[in-house]
Amino acid sequence: MKSILLNAYGEAPYLADVAMPEPGATDVLVRVAAASLNPLDNKLQAGYLDGVFPLTFPSKMGTDLAGVVEKTGSLMSRWRAGDRVVARLLPTEGGAFAEFTLVPEDQLVLIPESIDFDQAAGMPTAAATAWQALFETAGLTAGQTVLIHAGAGGVGSFAIQFAHAAGARVVATASGDGMEIARRLGAEQVIDYRSEDFASVVSDVDVVLDTIGGETQQKSFGILRRGGKLMTVVSPPDEALAKAHGVEAAFIFHSSDAKRLSAVMKEVVSKRLSVLIDRSVSLESFDEAFARQASGRAHGKIVVCV
Ligand SMILES: NC(=O)c1ccc[n+]([C@@H]2O[C@H](COP(=O)([O-])OP(=O)(O)OC[C@H]3O[C@@H](n4cnc5c(N)ncnc54)[C@H](OP(=O)(O)O)[C@@H]3O)[C@@H](O)[C@H]2O)c1
Repeated sequence: MKSILLNAYGEAPYLADVAMPEPGATDVLVRVAAASLNPLDNKLQAGYLDGVFPLTFPSKMGTDLAGVVEKTGSLMSRWRAGDRVVARLLPTEGGAFAEFTLVPEDQLVLIPESIDFDQAAGMPTAAATAWQALFETAGLTAGQTVLIHAGAGGVGSFAIQFAHAAGARVVATASGDGMEIARRLGAEQVIDYRSEDFASVVSDVDVVLDTIGGETQQKSFGILRRGGKLMTVVSPPDEALAKAHGVEAAFIFHSSDAKRLSAVMKEVVSKRLSVLIDRSVSLESFDEAFARQASGRAHGKIVVCV
């Protein structure tokens, strides 16, 4: 079967023929229909995350996938051949960008009928991280104001919709076509971060979702009300700065969680939210998908159709 492999940090990922994986007792073999990229894939390839997620080479790539159960392990399983499933694999294991992959059975989630494979594959990391940050950690509630950075990105496009559906007032940063996308997804106010300084346009917000880091994160402290919350998914926040501004700050570290993924998918279905797809490419055109993700310019999710 075919799989995207990486031979060493910094080298180009490539398509290779590899042995078909055999499920262990509690594994499920999934025939992959679609997989999506995340900036995580670029960071893993570059070796930036070696301290947290060390890879063993040659390493299979890809965490987020959707497909069909092909075969289950020897122990009794609640999964049956033909079930439509979605999952997030451990970054150190990878294997989503492949024709088949093994998934521990407790990491699988059934895909609701109204969701297709491309949409399902776009959800695990981005949607679940947005959910974890906004509701599990920040406790965002109806009537509050939230600023979402990179509103047209993978995480941001879900965050805008979740926050809007929860009754929060959403302000987002974006540029170019991304501004109209952010508005369409539910942002009441969109700031063009290329021509305007967001810190001089908004103030007293309850929650900031920082998907950019650096100067954007630093400036975000100043637009929160006292007692407000800065949620960053990029780098640990400056605690001294948080204290000086009288705000709370937290670094969100997303880990695979089937229960959360299931809840997020139900929210997408029940609120009729959309999965913003930047582009879909074939496994053979993985290079294009990888370069697009690395550009940092994607509007929504980049999907690899297998
Ligand atoms: N900690 C965790 O567990 C976790 C989980 C998920 C993601 N993350 C991290 O979160 C970050 C965002 O992930 P993602 O999937 O949303 O990335 P993404 O989809 O690649 O984000 C792309 C978007 O960022 C926008 N953008 C770039 N620079 C910007 C700026 N200065 N201000 C506002 N928007 C800007 C781009 O807009 P333009 O088109 O206008 O350039 C584009 O729409 C990444 O660093 C990722 O690794 C962390």
